[in-house]
Amino acid sequence: MTSLMSLSSSAPTQDELKTLVGRAALQYVEPGSIVGVGTGSTVNKFIDALADVKQRIRGAVSSSEASTARLRALGIAVFDANEVDALAVYIDGADEIDGRGYMIKGGGAALTREKIVASMAAQFVCIADASKQVEVLGRFPLPVEVIPMAARQITRRFAALGGKARLRLQGGAPLVTDNGQHLLDVHGLRIDAPLAFESEVNQWPGVVTVGVFAHQKATLCLLGTAQGVQTLRFD
Ligand code: A5P
Repeated sequence: MTSLMSLSSSAPTQDELKTLVGRAALQYVEPGSIVGVGTGSTVNKFIDALADVKQRIRGAVSSSEASTARLRALGIAVFDANEVDALAVYIDGADEIDGRGYMIKGGGAALTREKIVASMAAQFVCIADASKQVEVLGRFPLPVEVIPMAARQITRRFAALGGKARLRLQGGAPLVTDNGQHLLDVHGLRIDAPLAFESEVNQWPGVVTVGVFAHQKATLCLLGTAQGVQTLRFD
């Protein structure tokens, strides 16, 4: 366990742990590089920290309109993914991460672009507070981005696996992703074999992206705990 930042004597809040791991991720940012940047409240802390060293990097490839806006507001250049051949590192949060580095992602609705940017990177550095660590994936409702006309059929297919899919709403209407699609959140799954599960659901007609990141798992996780930042490495 590596303590990279001193914590106050009282138990740290979840927000403090996010700040801690967001700053700790700077050690994986190579000078002169373009950094892959995820989405979410933990990544927002990373973006804020990245602003302090922005002169040392070329810029970022972003996984959402929200992260793009935050990066640009802080003066960090954002490149289109098609302008970049490869990334040394992708830094992102997770909704759940297990002991093998497999994750559930998409609580912030950005899973498709997150998986694309992650696939361009040699290393996936997950930043998470300790509440995200699980034995088995599935307690967090699994986000699945879908083509709207396929939502009911995909809902039936999850029901056959014992899952209850609900259309994610925003302001009473279906949430529309950055890609113009809808999202299902699937409750009641226990994902014992994430690689096989991801492969299976990915090929259902109408599924854009399933929020299991097993083929695109974390290389390492910077986990924020009451004792400091713990670095978990996955084979
Ligand atoms: C965004 O779509 C997600 O994959 C996030 O990475 C995940 O939801 C973690 O978000 P927080 O850092 O806000 O918990």
